[in-house]
Amino acid sequence: MTGYLGFIGGVEAAVGNKAPAPSYKKTIQPIFNANCVYCHMSGAMQGGLTLEPGLSPRSLVSIKSTGSPLMLVVPGKPNDSYLIHKLEGTHLKVGGMGASMPFSAGVLLKLEEKDLALIHRWILLGAVDN
Ligand code: HEC
Repeated sequence: MTGYLGFIGGVEAAVGNKAPAPSYKKTIQPIFNANCVYCHMSGAMQGGLTLEPGLSPRSLVSIKSTGSPLMLVVPGKPNDSYLIHKLEGTHLKVGGMGASMPFSAGVLLKLEEKDLALIHRWILLGAVDN
């Protein structure tokens, strides 16, 4: 986590080792709402995945991905979670397929490092639905 030490106070508090686990509803779902849900919702489940409030994170945790041999989210194990590989762009190296997320034709989009760090930490600390 030393790589994040350059961030200003609030962010460091959010990702620092002693910080409490991020709340799914307050912290993680808003990241999905802003970047993912318009493609990953009931009626438009790209890749077979919904990230809609109320359906996620049940749709992620211990669910097998459609595009790889991995689970989407393995509680406590971000590196075994296909979600993280799709966000980091390492999905092809772990037997996955398709594009990195958030998908956008032509341009390479990537979540902000602080959002990636929060999702990583949420999984590491048990991927709790809270
Ligand atoms: C513009 C539409 C679009 C956006 C925005 C988008 N996705 Fe996707 N997503 C797709 C499509 C299409 C696929 C299936 C093809 C592929 O894997 O590249 C997919 C597949 C996935 C998969 C693999 C599902 C599986 O079971 O294998 C994950 C995980 C995923 N997206 C997560 C996200 C997350 C998290 C975000 C937001 C940060 C996001 N996506 C934003 C279109 C989108």
